[in-house]
Amino acid sequence: MQIIRSVPEMQALAEALRAQGQLIGLVPTMGALHDGHLTLIRAAAERADAVVVTIFVNPAQFAPSEDFNKYPRELENDVAKCEAAGADYVFAPPNEEIYPKGYSTYITEEHVAKPLEGVSRPSHFRGVTTVVAKLFNICRPDLAVFGQKDAQQVAVIRKMVADLNFTVDIVVAPTLREPDGLAMSSRNRYLSATQRVEALAIHRALYKARDMVAAGEIRSDRLVAEATHILSQQRRIRVIYVSLVNRSTMEPAREVIPGETVMAIAAWMDEVRLIDNIVL
Ligand code: PAF
Repeated sequence: MQIIRSVPEMQALAEALRAQGQLIGLVPTMGALHDGHLTLIRAAAERADAVVVTIFVNPAQFAPSEDFNKYPRELENDVAKCEAAGADYVFAPPNEEIYPKGYSTYITEEHVAKPLEGVSRPSHFRGVTTVVAKLFNICRPDLAVFGQKDAQQVAVIRKMVADLNFTVDIVVAPTLREPDGLAMSSRNRYLSATQRVEALAIHRALYKARDMVAAGEIRSDRLVAEATHILSQQRRIRVIYVSLVNRSTMEPAREVIPGETVMAIAAWMDEVRLIDNIVL
């Protein structure tokens, strides 16, 4: 497996692969890879001839108060995991390759990015869309794989792809959970054992909603009230939002439309910000 650090080198490689008629599958990540990421890499390997995993902790999607500096960086470990999962190339550029001195162009999706995460993290998706668009231009993928765990990110990227006429197929892989139900996330390592136990309430709240829908409840207010009640029983959890939304537009849903509606939760577990969701 080859590691590429520079933009011109990655662009030349992508051109060469395309000239050979190889289908390129991209898995954008910020590293600190867990089994959820490996599922994304395997999904890319099933569909593409050449799999490129990008590892780049993108400063543009972190607010100054967020965890950019403490975000785990473990390139050597990550590279071994990528190779074992079936990646062919790791593109791990230093910051100056992506944002050289004087960099000043950003992409803003102005609708899907506004609610939910967009309320408390107003510049987050501007950073995500900018770096993903750049990675698309650098790696020239035919398809790119993202995780359902970041439901709003998926919706924002799909909208950007449609609006800006990118010819990249977006593949969404299901959320991978720990055996106890906690959604896999690179930030789970910030949780202590006790915080982790309390964090399971997020998963319980989502699965309660799923069970209520299976039993015939489709009203958003009732589903949200029950999920909020479950979360409020945990001393250390502070709810940021519990919302039922359309999975493509992220607009509020008054009732569940099966397969189209998502319950999305964001909550502080002490100082750790967690998100999770379920398609109802
Ligand atoms: O989901 C992530 O890890 C990041 O938001 C992404 C898509 C790699 C962009 O930096």
